[in-house]
Amino acid sequence: MKPYRKYKVIRKVEENSLVVSLYLAPIDDRPLTLFMPGQHLMFKLHIPGQPVPVFRYYSFSDIYSPEYYRVSIKKESAPLNNPTLANGLASSYLYDCVKEGDILEAKGPSGDFYLNPGDNKPVVLIAGGIGITPLLSMVKSIAKINPDKMVYFFYGVNGSGEHSFQTEIQELRKGYDNLTITTFYNKISLGDVQGLHYDHEGYINIKTILQITQDIHLDYYICGPGVMMNYVTGELEALGVRKDNIHTESFNNRSYQNLQEETLESLTNEESLKNDTVFSIEFLRSGKKIQWDDRYRSILEFAEGNDIEISSGCLFGDCGTCLTEVREGNVHYLHKTLASIDKGKCLPCSCIPTSNVVLNV
Ligand SMILES: Cc1cc2nc3c(=O)[nH]c(=O)nc-3n(C[C@H](O)[C@H](O)[C@H](O)COP(=O)(O)OP(=O)(O)OC[C@H]3O[C@@H](n4cnc5c(N)ncnc54)[C@H](O)[C@@H]3O)c2cc1C
Ligand code: FES
Repeated sequence: MKPYRKYKVIRKVEENSLVVSLYLAPIDDRPLTLFMPGQHLMFKLHIPGQPVPVFRYYSFSDIYSPEYYRVSIKKESAPLNNPTLANGLASSYLYDCVKEGDILEAKGPSGDFYLNPGDNKPVVLIAGGIGITPLLSMVKSIAKINPDKMVYFFYGVNGSGEHSFQTEIQELRKGYDNLTITTFYNKISLGDVQGLHYDHEGYINIKTILQITQDIHLDYYICGPGVMMNYVTGELEALGVRKDNIHTESFNNRSYQNLQEETLESLTNEESLKNDTVFSIEFLRSGKKIQWDDRYRSILEFAEGNDIEISSGCLFGDCGTCLTEVREGNVHYLHKTLASIDKGKCLPCSCIPTSNVVLNV
């Protein structure tokens, strides 16, 4: 099990009305572990009122510094079509409650969505909304160390109110010949100046990308809303870009409507699953057999809360990293998963047990 480490929040910066950056310094004397641009930390959050820890990933949004890590968090609001639902649990806590001086626990760096800023292969970075965090780390790392690597950076946001890191991006635009940065605003507001605040009105689109890059056969790194990622990857593949040249990271931000439907369905099922039967989960390779605690949201979080590590990439059933062999027993899924589940296996990040379960992990 990779250890969790404690960090003090040494600075909290409001990037806009929805996004805060937290600067984290270790409270021990050991140096900060190096990370590759694009990687993330897994946070173990002790949120007041929550009976068990909450686990979430947040990507590094800056280049490596030996002094601190920076992560940037977008406060996820309740769905527009149902404002009575709760705001995002972890992001609201980090945005509203965590303050300078507080201590947070996290482990990592981890993640395979990263690039090597040292090679000279041209790269296209495509970010939507808060999906900018890993890509900002990438573009800043390249700016710092490799003037010979061409970068085409496309950033789409709803409008000026959600345009994070404007000053940093302006500096990148002005200072580096190898960076071409293009911003899309979906909605233009009074005072928005084309060429200064934004370049194009509307969503990120493949025609504009191609006009700027003039070459399709490049490496692509894409992070943003699912709709945007599906659109861009679909267009690139249709144009003949090989799948292994397209790298994506999903932040789990599915459409609110889908999440709502899936969550309500699962809550109904979850209620009917609650009974007095006590289940155990046996983790074969870890040699632990533990009584299931239904305050956890998933088997993976339960395992993590009991110091058993199951590899993960998304915590939402999208990436398939946590796929685990089920030797015995049954599980129930709390939402639809994008990753396919082979027979005899389960995605522990997205299910809970409905009987005694034996997992080969
Ligand atoms: C690899 C990776 C890196 C990431 N990096 C970042 C990053 O750099 N920055 C960042 O901000 N995020 C990042 N994320 C996303 C982050 O991990 C969280 O998923 C995100 O902050 C939302 O968590 P939450 O606890 O706030 O929301 P949750 O509590 O999980 O809720 C999610 C959404 O569902 C809504 N909701 C709540 N209840 C219901 C209901 N009953 N029905 C329907 N909807 C409901 C909430 O209002 C919210 O909008 C990353 C994710 C991954 C996988
Ligand atoms: S962690 Fe991604 S599918 Fe389970």
